[in-house]
Amino acid sequence: MSDPRLAELSRRLPDLRLLTAPGDLEHYGRDWTRRWTPAPLAVALPAGVDEVQAIVRWANEQQVAIVPSGGRTGLSGGAVAANGELVLSLERMNRVLDFDAVDRTLTVQPGIVLQNVHEAARSHGLLYPVDFAARGSCSLGGNIATNAGGIRVIRYGNTREWIAGLKVVTGNGELLELNRGLIKNSSGYDFRQLMIGSEGTLGIMVEATLRLTDLPPPSQVMLLALPDMDALMQVFALFRARLTLQAFEFFTDRALEHVLVHGAQRAIDGDYPYYVVTEFDAADGAAQDAALAAFEHALEQGWVSDGVIAQSEAQAAALWRLREGITESLAPRRPYKNDVSVRISAVPAFLHEMQALLAREYPQVEVVWFGHIGDGNLHINVLRPDDLAEEAFIAQCEHVTKLLAATLQRHGGSISAEHGIGLVKRAYLESTRSEAEIALMRGVRRVFDPNGILNPGKLFEAD
Ligand code: MLT
Ligand code: ZN
Repeated sequence: MSDPRLAELSRRLPDLRLLTAPGDLEHYGRDWTRRWTPAPLAVALPAGVDEVQAIVRWANEQQVAIVPSGGRTGLSGGAVAANGELVLSLERMNRVLDFDAVDRTLTVQPGIVLQNVHEAARSHGLLYPVDFAARGSCSLGGNIATNAGGIRVIRYGNTREWIAGLKVVTGNGELLELNRGLIKNSSGYDFRQLMIGSEGTLGIMVEATLRLTDLPPPSQVMLLALPDMDALMQVFALFRARLTLQAFEFFTDRALEHVLVHGAQRAIDGDYPYYVVTEFDAADGAAQDAALAAFEHALEQGWVSDGVIAQSEAQAAALWRLREGITESLAPRRPYKNDVSVRISAVPAFLHEMQALLAREYPQVEVVWFGHIGDGNLHINVLRPDDLAEEAFIAQCEHVTKLLAATLQRHGGSISAEHGIGLVKRAYLESTRSEAEIALMRGVRRVFDPNGILNPGKLFEAD
């Protein structure tokens, strides 16, 4: 190790796996945003809690910033290391540690991939219900750090609802054991909840105890084609009133074009501006009849133009692919992503304003809408025209994000619904959080991380 700081780290932790090869620095220094050039000092892959604590103590002494790192599937730059930081990858800490049948909890290390959490829960006949398309690559630590949402929030809520306990190493190397799996605990501040969604700025998660639930009843998946946004909201209200929804996701014709080009199968003939993939409980004939009746009512009202119901698991997966394949199909175009939320009651008004704004500001630019409309969470992806240079494109998008942030502020919404603030949205934090709140957030950060070594520059500018 030619860098004396790294030589000191290796001296203290001779067994620590440390990577410094350019390929590794590049691989671990970026996330799915691809906007920043990775430039970490090194990558550490601790094998356990003691090593994490020792790394944090070393970082304080050497004044080296740490970027906690999981699957790096984040979309807000929260896991980017572009300024000589040490990437602390938790990928070797990826085991299931315990299952408790009485408590119905699963205790895991943070580097575990979400899909492996799903499988471990299912192997005990239970469900860990947080789910989204990146399940095969994202890690649970990252899910907790961003309070990840996804496609089942309408039924099960965000990651926050499912964390019964957390072990965290703070910015000065202390190990905290938070809530210890308790269901009821009225003993003061809940630091576990504070850690969830803190984007690696308050502590490094080293263990999580997850709450599990019953496996869902049999369900059906339906694809609907709709004429306009107002109809979409009517259908949502109708379906939510009559069915037990597990998911209610929307996308536009443009999004559909991209997934079809990437190999998905068209399920409805004809061109329609909006589509919904919905999944609902269908345990018996009565539930299936209710779904059919709701669909027919929507058809009569002109809220739905066409629809298809999956007849097999393979068809259900094919319908889901139309929605879940969108991110991957857009990725080669490196879209500028907006991930916003408003209260469901504010969705129609917000959408109308946004559509007018985008038509005015981006008349020639391709804008792809999709997302978790049943949660009031919309993904607005802007694609760079071929003849516009990357920098000019980003500048244009940032201008529009400012307008978007102002619109959101008027509607009491959030600039980040589920992706996090990271580097991408930190300039817009004040559209969602007041000055007083941001001052308190900074104060909280100083308590947990007095020297500001944990993920500085993410969430807000480094202090
Ligand atoms: C999704 O809903 O598919 C994810 O949030 C990813 C994305 O927004 O691209
Ligand atoms: Zn999403």
